[in-house]
Amino acid sequence: MEVRAVFLVGFMASGKSSVGQELARRLNWEFVDLDARIEWREGQTIPEIFRDKGEPGFRLAETSALGELTESLEHDTVVALGGGTFAQSKNRELLRHWPSLFLDTPLEELWRRSLEDATKRPLGKDHTEFARLYEYRLPFYREATLTIVTSGKDPASICTEIERRLQLWGRTEGAGSFQPPARLGTGESQ
Ligand code: S3P
Repeated sequence: MEVRAVFLVGFMASGKSSVGQELARRLNWEFVDLDARIEWREGQTIPEIFRDKGEPGFRLAETSALGELTESLEHDTVVALGGGTFAQSKNRELLRHWPSLFLDTPLEELWRRSLEDATKRPLGKDHTEFARLYEYRLPFYREATLTIVTSGKDPASICTEIERRLQLWGRTEGAGSFQPPARLGTGESQ
């Protein structure tokens, strides 16, 4: 059987990791956090990579970790991407055959949440820059296969909605009851 995977897309603090873990638990799929994978491959934390190699060095490490991941999936997997992953055309290209889910959260909610763990996010320190980055990335996030509005919802209800939407989407794609195909031919956006 072909391996299935979904990739969670969204800005910093949109809940990709917490929703991803909950979704993987419900589906009995594996969970992979791309940032954790990068840290493991590079032997450095994300702030250390930014400090030593700058953002360009981080982006190279990110694309290479993502490329390796998509080539080596052995189990059904939910992947939480980093906030900037889907804004890079090379990465969207790597993901073009896989279902991607955009967790759509309002800017001010993202900013409030990001302040709670600001030390982990080199790009989450200044409100003006945070807002500029958000506006710039939004059109790329909207290229994801499905958009899930998350405002005011907890991870459990977001997962319920994702499962329902994936099921519906699986049907329109002719894939039967929640069988999102591992490789999606059309790359349709919503
Ligand atoms: C980044 C978001 C971070 C991490 C890195 C860069 C970004 O991931 O990949 O700090 O460019 O928005 P989270 O979205 O998980 O915070």
